[in-house]
Amino acid sequence: MTAHAGRISRILFLTVLSASLLLSCSRAKSPSLTFAVGGAPSELDQWTKVVEEFSRSTGIDVKVIRQPTDTGQRRQGLLIPLKSGKPDPDVFLMDVAWISQFAASNWLEPLDDVLADLGKNVFFRRILDLADTYDGKILALPVYVDGGLLYYRKDLLSRFGYRHPPETWEELLEVSLRIQKAVRKKNPDFSAFVWQGAQYEGLVCTFLEFAGSNNGGIDLKKGRVVLATPENVRALAFMRDLIHRYRISPPSTFTEMKEEEVRLFFQSGASLFERNWPYAWSLHESPGSPVRGKVGIAPLPHFKGGKSVSTLGGWHLGISRFSDAKDTAKKFARYLLSYETQKKLVLSLGWNSGRKDIYEDRDVLSAFPHYAALRKVFTGALPRPTVPYYSQISAVVQKFVNAAIAGEMDPEDALREAEKECAKIVSRYEG
Ligand code: GLC
Repeated sequence: MTAHAGRISRILFLTVLSASLLLSCSRAKSPSLTFAVGGAPSELDQWTKVVEEFSRSTGIDVKVIRQPTDTGQRRQGLLIPLKSGKPDPDVFLMDVAWISQFAASNWLEPLDDVLADLGKNVFFRRILDLADTYDGKILALPVYVDGGLLYYRKDLLSRFGYRHPPETWEELLEVSLRIQKAVRKKNPDFSAFVWQGAQYEGLVCTFLEFAGSNNGGIDLKKGRVVLATPENVRALAFMRDLIHRYRISPPSTFTEMKEEEVRLFFQSGASLFERNWPYAWSLHESPGSPVRGKVGIAPLPHFKGGKSVSTLGGWHLGISRFSDAKDTAKKFARYLLSYETQKKLVLSLGWNSGRKDIYEDRDVLSAFPHYAALRKVFTGALPRPTVPYYSQISAVVQKFVNAAIAGEMDPEDALREAEKECAKIVSRYEG
């Protein structure tokens, strides 16, 4: 090597060395995290704000991985990195319906220390026990709890002389038929009752509510699946009839109605009743919303002789066992679940917090007067089966319930077929 070439290679070596030193220093100075979260566009905007505030106050850089609204697609988006043990995302939100699978697959970092720091009594014990505790360890923490609700147009009901929302499905039908007939004269697109009927997880939630409110449900016990009961068949036939016989729910119910489609339909003013989760409230009340100031909230109706049932939904925070920044991730978790952050999220999104103390907050109660009255709906909501293979059971139920409400299968045949397919899945896992 000539003296000149030697000098060049020394300079090159020093440049590479200082560049990599600089890089590692800057890494050490600003640790970073990835956070996978989805939801309605308004929720994603709010998450971005929360994350920016966290970064400003801690210097920790957080990259938000934006996920879709549909829970099935969100789960799918997490399966690949977790199955392959990738360090990102470090933190994510999980639907209460899939935590058992993630826990059984050993993908979740225990969060007992985070819970101890936040205070054991700040969360609802029932939810922690039902959804977040596996083999005695806390593997997830509730960010918000969901329960199905009935939204109704106060102005339309009172114009037709009704002082209260319906308490039974039979009443809902009667009121809907009468008001729809009158309103359709001016607005032929009006459909009195909108609910989630597309083939996806939300349909299992609505089916459970109709069935549960007729003393039915999905029973997975000791290796047996019970679905095709007379109570469930009647509930499913009623769901189908709402669309095809009474025509108070539009045909798009079984093709495209998910949370946001339902919310937008009702919000446009083209409906009288809506089944949705609590998040819809703030959006209905937002400036420019055609139904602002006209909406009431009530527990879902039930069949005569049954009682109102809400499916337990909600989203819980998890930290990946493969994260390479677990301490930082826990710091972020404490921030997201702190009183201050939860209060902000609740005030801007109208969620039902996973924290009990938020339900006593004066600002929250004055912004959401229905909050206190409906607390019972969330704390008593009905969970979906908590088995690690729930997603497979759900896929079968979705398929057959959707075929029945589309009018392609008789409700009883659909539930019998679903029962057979579910039994195969159960026996595969429970042996
Ligand atoms: C809501 C609920 C969730 C449920 C989903 C169904 O996001 O919180 O638990 O699975 O809706 O679409």
